[in-house]
Amino acid sequence: PALHKVIMVGSGGVGKSALTLQFMYDEFVEDYEPTKADSYRKKVVLDGEEVQIDILDTAGQEDYAAIREQILRVKNDENIPFLLVGNKSDLEDKRKVSVQEAQARSRQWNVPYVETSAKTRENVDKVFFDLMREIRSR
Ligand code: GTP
Ligand code: MG
Repeated sequence: PALHKVIMVGSGGVGKSALTLQFMYDEFVEDYEPTKADSYRKKVVLDGEEVQIDILDTAGQEDYAAIREQILRVKNDENIPFLLVGNKSDLEDKRKVSVQEAQARSRQWNVPYVETSAKTRENVDKVFFDLMREIRSR
């Protein structure tokens, strides 16, 4: 089957691992254990076609800044699909980034913006499946 590779990148504690684990195992992990680097692979059915998704879950903590510099280069490569995710949508009362701010950034980067919750599973499948569709279409 076709292999679709996804990289999770963002600051420490924003929920990259929780999103990945919710997508992989339908489980919400409450505990915060900073990631070094983990990878996951799963077979999924994308629009009727069996494909494999490979998820590289990177570290957001400052110590691991090198991989993020590489990813910034990736982001500037217009041929690589990119999705901006605002996670923890279940914590609306603790919102740190307004919808307007996020939408402005997504326009600036010319990428879609999606709000998710790794806790309630809101839009979790959507972000991974939308990305796989983008990858497939390149
Ligand atoms: P690093 O590995 O250090 O880069 O962090 P991370 O981005 O992987 O964050 P992680 O997924 O470990 O989540 C950090 C904390 O936020 C954990 O306690 C999670 O349970 C919590 N969390 C993650 N996503 C959500 C969410 O959508 N809603 C709520 N309420 N909590 C969340
Ligand atoms: Mg993590």
